[in-house]
Amino acid sequence: MKIKSAEFVVSNSDVSKCPKNSIPEYAFIGRSNVGKSSLINMLTSRKSLAKTSGRPGKTQLINHFIINDNWYLVDLPGYGYARVSKTSKKTFQKFITQYFALREQLVSAFVLVDIRHNPQPIDLEFMQWLGEHGIPFSIIFTKADKLKPKAIDNHIESYKNVLLETWEEMPNYFITSSSKNIGKEDVLEYIDSLNSN
Ligand code: GTP
Ligand code: MG
Repeated sequence: MKIKSAEFVVSNSDVSKCPKNSIPEYAFIGRSNVGKSSLINMLTSRKSLAKTSGRPGKTQLINHFIINDNWYLVDLPGYGYARVSKTSKKTFQKFITQYFALREQLVSAFVLVDIRHNPQPIDLEFMQWLGEHGIPFSIIFTKADKLKPKAIDNHIESYKNVLLETWEEMPNYFITSSSKNIGKEDVLEYIDSLNSN
């Protein structure tokens, strides 16, 4: 899919203030620093559409970006960031949960996980929660540039083994690297196929 335009629309901490129109949207979620904002920049071929940082906790709000004037990419704060205060952690969790529970325009979530790490309880629990709420999602493995192909295969295999303990089948997944531009077309084609359904 060709990205002709990509523009920031609005930031919110309140899901009821998110754009009201009913155009389809896709949200990126995962641990802080996993590469959500970088992935949005890779997908849109814009260097700094979404703000990124080497320090976790950069994205703190629900950010809507409109793509080709007819669908949204949504950048969300990360979960599991230890250095924010307990109060702001709770606030984050609340609006992230509300976003997923209330946002009817959401076609699919993308749960990002760092390909270098073994399956983490927080990610597995979040996927479980999405499943229980009937929210479709795919997994995006990030930072594939950090591992050799063989190690990538091994990590995916161990992820599959863990997921298949609770899921009937492996959720749809993508292997990406925002710094090496890997996986861009796969994700965009997938979104395109969902948009035309
Ligand atoms: P929060 O907004 O804090 O939740 O983080 P985020 O998930 O949006 O991560 P962000 O995109 O800001 O990236 C975090 C760090 O990881 C930055 O230093 C990025 O440059 C780096 N990073 C992101 N994607 C990749 C990747 O594919 N490869 C490598 N090597 N680094 C990456
Ligand atoms: Mg971010």
